[in-house]
Amino acid sequence: MSAFALRLSGIEKTFRSGDTLVPVLKGVDLDLAEGEFSALMGPSGCGKSTLLMIAGMLEPPSTGAIELGGLPLSLADLSAAELRAIRRRGVGFVFQKPNLIPFLTASENIEVVLEINDMAPRKRRTLSRSVLAELDLAHRADQLPRRLSGGEQQRVAIGRALATRPALILADEPTAALDSVRGRQALELLRDAARRNGAAALVVTHDQRSLDLFDRVIQMEDGRIKG
Ligand SMILES: Nc1ncnc2c1ncn2[C@@H]1O[C@H](COP(=O)(O)OP(=O)(O)OP(=O)(O)O)[C@@H](O)[C@H]1O
Ligand SMILES: [Mg+2]
Repeated sequence: MSAFALRLSGIEKTFRSGDTLVPVLKGVDLDLAEGEFSALMGPSGCGKSTLLMIAGMLEPPSTGAIELGGLPLSLADLSAAELRAIRRRGVGFVFQKPNLIPFLTASENIEVVLEINDMAPRKRRTLSRSVLAELDLAHRADQLPRRLSGGEQQRVAIGRALATRPALILADEPTAALDSVRGRQALELLRDAARRNGAAALVVTHDQRSLDLFDRVIQMEDGRIKG
């Protein structure tokens, strides 16, 4: 029996632009096994970011079903507060820019997420430090973001996404702002940390040279998954 961290079935998404309807996702079926590290590739505009938003429940699909950690999510039956709670605990997001809070230290940027998840202060601090240590950032824990390099900031953002031990990590071009060496390092750290946590990850990337790091490469084209 295989367990799925994420299961998308028949996902369609149509946006309205003025009077016209723009179909962006045209029937996407996708299973991510627990612990699977997957790349999502495809031309600009094919719907990768839209798919991530839907997988992370930041955007509802027009039609289709989502299962997270084996639980069917009936979006119509969940309140906004219930959805937020599921997202907060079950999904970690990493975006192209780190988006750290500028007046909080690296450690505090991670601690705030744990605070929202009701973790006690001392535990937050210990966990945040161990996450930073895993990302080779123990020595940067008390620095403000502006004192960190771009690569270090993105590693803090990765730590923030992983700290709550989500079953699913969604990363939208997390290394686009880094040079290729730093980008590869960040992906390796993301992969290793996700593996240790047993989290599945879906990572949008355009970097052909880093594809060997992934268990699987998913190709998208014009709103559909190829193959
Ligand atoms: N909120 C929205 N309203 C209307 N159209 C949208 C909206 N969000 C996305 N789109 C359209 O959906 C299509 C897919 O966009 P999406 O951002 O998912 O592509 P992408 O594959 O992530 O591209 P890129 O590689 O450039 O980031 C685009 O044509 C875009 O204009
Ligand atoms: Mg995109």
